[in-house]
Amino acid sequence: MKNFRFQNKTDIRFGTGRLDVELHDAVSQFGSRVLFVYGGHSIKKSGLYDTVTGLLADLQLTELPGIEPNPKIDSIRAGQKLAKDQDIDVVLAVGGGSVIDAAKVIASAKFYEGDPWDLVKDRGVTRRKLQQLPVVDILTLAATGSEMNSGSVISNPVTHEKLGTVGPNTPAVSFLDPSLTFTVPARQTAAGSMDILSHLLEQYFDRSKNNDASKGMIEGLMRTVIKWAPIALKQPDNYDARANLMWSATMALNGIVSVANENGWTVHSLEHELSAYYDITHGVGLGILTPRWMSFILTKDATTAEMLAQFGRHVWDLEGDESYAVAQAAIDATFDWISRLGFPMTLPEVGIKDTQHFDAMATAAVANASLETRAYVPLSVEDVETIYQAS
Ligand code: NZQ
Ligand code: ZN
Repeated sequence: MKNFRFQNKTDIRFGTGRLDVELHDAVSQFGSRVLFVYGGHSIKKSGLYDTVTGLLADLQLTELPGIEPNPKIDSIRAGQKLAKDQDIDVVLAVGGGSVIDAAKVIASAKFYEGDPWDLVKDRGVTRRKLQQLPVVDILTLAATGSEMNSGSVISNPVTHEKLGTVGPNTPAVSFLDPSLTFTVPARQTAAGSMDILSHLLEQYFDRSKNNDASKGMIEGLMRTVIKWAPIALKQPDNYDARANLMWSATMALNGIVSVANENGWTVHSLEHELSAYYDITHGVGLGILTPRWMSFILTKDATTAEMLAQFGRHVWDLEGDESYAVAQAAIDATFDWISRLGFPMTLPEVGIKDTQHFDAMATAAVANASLETRAYVPLSVEDVETIYQAS
């Protein structure tokens, strides 16, 4: 196993009934001027907005509503202005990954004099030299792991770019109450579950040797998502289903399962181009691309059969001595599970009917994630186009 350093300082408050007792102090420990960032209507509909404003009534709340799914740079610009004008002490993010992602970049942008797109475009190089306001979040959707990592993904509709930027800190405090996800609609529950599975797959398919500790943790988390996502879809208020999905989402992307890994991610960079050009839901794009990527790498590089077969045996309980056949069956099992969640399974079904942007998208995906050198199976622009065509 390679050397690694692991540190994650997020204070996790998991479970129900904690907000009433703990939210006020968790926020006010950082000051009284609070930028309250949230998305569309979901927190007003669920009553969470009233809960939060009631509990923090004695603090000075400045609201930034309207953070979109696939958060846009204009929202960050608006947040930067508020953070500076109001001399904000702490950012409170209430929502899914989009809201928390936006909050983290705003938390950096308070200390930056220029356009915050610079902080995204350089992938976080400048942010890691800047101060960052503390972020407290209340997670309402299990998916991205943003609640315990330092990444954010921000879109610029003008330039058709959707880029990840990594800041200096993870959120200071994250409230993870699974019951707040009871209201997540089926489509978003499926997309979130697919996102969790994809994060695990991106870190599982890796060339590091004898890293069984990480692989074993990933396999356990994958089995958890595979088991509980269909249950959450059938019974939206099943607490155990929501709790297992929420903690798996956090564990999948807080850095712990990727220690000593060697490869960069692949499918996410392909998906980010779909969202950048067509603004589709992240998890839906991943659901379409994941089995196609698996089939492609198995065909391109037969040595991948061993890892795909291990995935089949340890995660899907497949049997058989012939690794190539088990690998193929694992891909089929993955495809079937995704489609049973109710996903559209082709790009035309999500409105991507023409191929006019595939070349530009493939070029950007390869460049942004160094797919020719860092991917588990190195991919060229032509390879990525082939995967888009097969989708
Ligand atoms: O805007 P509101 O009204 O709140 O509705 C949201 C939104 O429409 C709704 N929702 C959230 N919680 C709800 C709820 N509806 C009912 N009840 C609730 N409790 O769900 C919709 C989607 O929300 P969003 O935050 O966009 O979803 P998600 O958490 O999947 O985040 C997706 C974004 O995160 C990025 C993605 O690219 C995408 O932009 N990612 C961030 C990562 C990270 N920071 O590490 C990694 C990921 O791979 C991913 O790329
Ligand atoms: Zn993701």
